[in-house]
Amino acid sequence: MIEFCGVQKTYTTGNASITALQRIDLKVNEGEIFGVIGHSGAGKSTLIRLINLLERPTEGTVKVSGVDLMALSENDLRQFRQHVGMIFQHFNLLGSMTVAENIAYAMRIVGQKSAQAIDARVDELLELVGLSKHKHKYPRQLSGGEKQRVGIARALSNHPTVLLCDEATSALDPQTTHSILQLLRRINETLKLTIVLITHEMDVIRTVCDRVAVIDGGRIVEEGAVTQVFLHPQHPTTKRFVQEAEGAHDAVVWGDNAAPRGGLYRLTFQRETVHQPLLSRVARSFAVDFSIITGRFGAIKSEPCGQVVVRATGEADQVQGALSQLAQAGVCVEEVSDATVA
Ligand SMILES: Nc1ncnc2c1ncn2[C@@H]1O[C@H](COP(=O)(O)OP(=O)(O)OP(=O)(O)O)[C@@H](O)[C@H]1O
Ligand SMILES: [Mg+2]
Repeated sequence: MIEFCGVQKTYTTGNASITALQRIDLKVNEGEIFGVIGHSGAGKSTLIRLINLLERPTEGTVKVSGVDLMALSENDLRQFRQHVGMIFQHFNLLGSMTVAENIAYAMRIVGQKSAQAIDARVDELLELVGLSKHKHKYPRQLSGGEKQRVGIARALSNHPTVLLCDEATSALDPQTTHSILQLLRRINETLKLTIVLITHEMDVIRTVCDRVAVIDGGRIVEEGAVTQVFLHPQHPTTKRFVQEAEGAHDAVVWGDNAAPRGGLYRLTFQRETVHQPLLSRVARSFAVDFSIITGRFGAIKSEPCGQVVVRATGEADQVQGALSQLAQAGVCVEEVSDATVA
């Protein structure tokens, strides 16, 4: 659906230049929710703005549905932009217009003329985002979450195939964030819309995304399925994001001398292994004790999963036997040197 190939973006102001993105290769599949996570200044907004050519790449190509955006004429580009909706951190609503007028305006500027058709579409969109009774209010009369719902309705007004979200929940409290993310999920599922979402919060990624790219200093340092990246982060930046999301800053070594001796192992439970009493079963079959050092359980999007770090004590062959039985049952077993979650 979206393809970046060797993309570089350099901003030049006066005689200073800043390379915001370097050698970006990226593919977003049709119908998925793709997340991009990175710290402030990493290049997230630049990246997302290349998808509707609000910014032009200095080098490389960006294709959407197979079309090279740089090759489009002004006219074709205007047409193309209708297929890409965008929502923003600060909503960007027009304060002098009502909710209905804000949405209608987005349809008028692309040439929709029939007042009746526009009004019918506004009603349909307000129903979709759960704001029907706020149709004639002004933005200042709405909460942040409601404003973002208007932003979403407006972005969907011209039936886009791609929705871009630039920190769409960063200005919202956790509960409102959750409800907006659930709305995005519902839209993705019911309208089969491809969503690209940028954020600096791993929790946002975990709640809604299918795949994620981690961006650091203008480069993509890690990319993959959210389950994989969340449970087995490789790059230090990714590990930090996961630890932040888990509130795991302090869960470092439990290596004081009072602790029993024995190796530390990280056990990851996914799919059917989540529901089975595997740890107690292997402890019964082998002469092994497990002490749980740290752990996290929950869902990544809709998939339940769990990860614990355990200290295994017992004779070496017994420990090995227990660990291979866990691995055979489908648990991912890794020996680790400290107990940090990631
Ligand atoms: N129009 C511009 N002109 C010059 N430099 C720019 C411009 N836009 C962005 N930059 C620079 O490019 C880099 C990446 O900026 P970008 O806005 O993409 O970061 P970001 O990841 O979205 O950050 P944040 O999380 O703070 O929004 C920064 O160093 C920024 O200063
Ligand atoms: Mg930004």
